Amino acid sequence: MNGSAYMQGHGESVLASHRTRSAEKQADYLLPKITATSRILDVGCGPGTITCDFARIASQGQVFGVDYSEAALGSAQNEARDRSITNITFQTGTAHSLPFDDETFDIVHCHAVLVHIPDVPTALREMRRVCKTGGYVAAGEPDWGTCIIHPHDARLQRWIEVHRELKRRENVEPNCGRHLATWALEAGFDQDKVNVDCDVLRYFGTEQVRWWGQLYSKRMPTEVGERAIKYGVATAEEVEQFATAYLQWSQMKGALWAMTRMKFLGEK
Ligand SMILES: C[S@@+](CC[C@H](N)C(=O)[O-])C[C@H]1O[C@@H](n2cnc3c(N)ncnc32)[C@H](O)[C@@H]1O
Repeated sequence: MNGSAYMQGHGESVLASHRTRSAEKQADYLLPKITATSRILDVGCGPGTITCDFARIASQGQVFGVDYSEAALGSAQNEARDRSITNITFQTGTAHSLPFDDETFDIVHCHAVLVHIPDVPTALREMRRVCKTGGYVAAGEPDWGTCIIHPHDARLQRWIEVHRELKRRENVEPNCGRHLATWALEAGFDQDKVNVDCDVLRYFGTEQVRWWGQLYSKRMPTEVGERAIKYGVATAEEVEQFATAYLQWSQMKGALWAMTRMKFLGEK
């Protein structure tokens, strides 16, 4: 049991979308806290592009990436090798039981991980445990309750509902972002040492909309299909309709996909 209900899988189309991420875009709120000598842990590092950026910024420090997926870690190792980064270590581990001693890191970060796992307060307590006193725990997580897909399409609205329902069936909170601060307090953080900022994950314009729509259409069978059918939340025909609807949306002029992403920063 790895304490995850990770629906996306680790197929090439999923990893490809994660590889577009960077510390500058996804962890902008954390960058002022990173110094050249920081010791950083990236939990649920996936294919490691954000992790590698951390290692570049903390050039005299040490960066660790942990993920429960060997496939993701293999991709992360290739990323580090291709970028000739040497101050980085990737290893298997789960967010609910991090394989590190107390007070090990200056910064413990995750991006798009807590929205996939049950019992987030335990994961945040673990992140806090391995963080040094005076160090920072950071989490950038979306809130599916804020997802907008325009123009309106009943199939895509239904897909949002199915997607949220699947997460709930696996004890995962799809509206994760809004809960981060209250969960952090449960995990031991002080109210006056936490902050939540937000930005918007947005796809607009011919190129972005085509890329995102086609990607989601491809991800549909692995991300939603198998589980939706297993739990009786959607039929195979509906899942096909979701994939078709995403493809049609990807070709629409003026199309917009947007969702709020919360950026939690807590000082230990
Ligand atoms: C959406 S990806 C995000 C990857 C990376 N943080 C990024 O933003 O590019 C989520 C990652 O969390 C990992 N993951 C899911 N549940 C986990 C758990 N309980 N412990 C460790 N990693 C987990 C998955 O294998 C996946 O690589």
